[in-house]
Amino acid sequence: MELTLVIGSANQRLGDAVALILEPDRADPVVERFPDGELHVTLPHSLRGNDVYVLQSTGPPVDQQLMELLLLVDACRRGGAGRITTVIPYFGYARQDRRRAPGEAIAARVVADLLRAVRVDRVLVVDPHTPGLEAVFEMPLDALSAVPVLAAGLRPTLPTDAVVVAPDLGAVKRAESYAALLGLPMVIVRKRRISGTSVRAEEVVGAIDGRVPVIIDDMISTGATVCAAMQALLEHGARASVLVAATHGLFVGPAPQRLRELPIEHLVVTDSLPSAVGLPPSAEVVSIDRLLADAIRRLHDDQPLDDLVLFA
Ligand code: R5P
Repeated sequence: MELTLVIGSANQRLGDAVALILEPDRADPVVERFPDGELHVTLPHSLRGNDVYVLQSTGPPVDQQLMELLLLVDACRRGGAGRITTVIPYFGYARQDRRRAPGEAIAARVVADLLRAVRVDRVLVVDPHTPGLEAVFEMPLDALSAVPVLAAGLRPTLPTDAVVVAPDLGAVKRAESYAALLGLPMVIVRKRRISGTSVRAEEVVGAIDGRVPVIIDDMISTGATVCAAMQALLEHGARASVLVAATHGLFVGPAPQRLRELPIEHLVVTDSLPSAVGLPPSAEVVSIDRLLADAIRRLHDDQPLDDLVLFA
């Protein structure tokens, strides 16, 4: 089976970088919008029998990028693809993986069902919000870890008295991976979400006095979590200097302003999403191109991904 890469509009640069490494057959789609707003995608050639990888994050605007992904997969299937793997570096809706209140939908499950409806064979994501995402999918899902890439990005500016900080309980497992890779101790902040744009840090567990926090998270959306954690850490005696690492930089709404107000020495995110504007000068984007290329090559060759995956 020939390896074909289809790059969606959400990850054009990252896709080009992956293609440079893999040198696959490329089926560059034409993605256009009709005057009434409908999306229309066309593939340039037949994919008869090919092993196809469709690369598309579902970040903002989430619904548009999701719809593009679904149409791209459908076009691949109708174009004769033998096997289709969706490579979704940032998987939107992952935070809605269960009902937290009566009357809510489980959006992550709906997205999984949509991908099943267009007959995706396998899903590859990077650092999803929860490892439980795998359970909402019927088809196999592999969650790659960008933690080694981000840890390598932090290393050059890491002070010796740094401490890895999980800014909420959901981040503890990930923080343990950073702490192990960087050889640092760890602190946990207990957080309560008040609304989509505001959170409260309620407790700091561990010693941070006089030390530099390295706040890690799966994503930075509005910046509320990082800000609340930093505030609480300062109140517990942390040095007024912070390093931040997150896999997915959404940076929506007040995020750029909030982050500019923090004493950030170094902020590292990956290119799972296109770069946002207005970030602090200390922001650095590290690429997951090699991680994705490696995973795609191994799947194509039926090799295991175990050492690229962060297990819960
Ligand atoms: C939530 O539990 C996530 O892991 C992130 O902490 C959260 O989504 C970040 O969002 P924000 O930047 O808006 O606080």
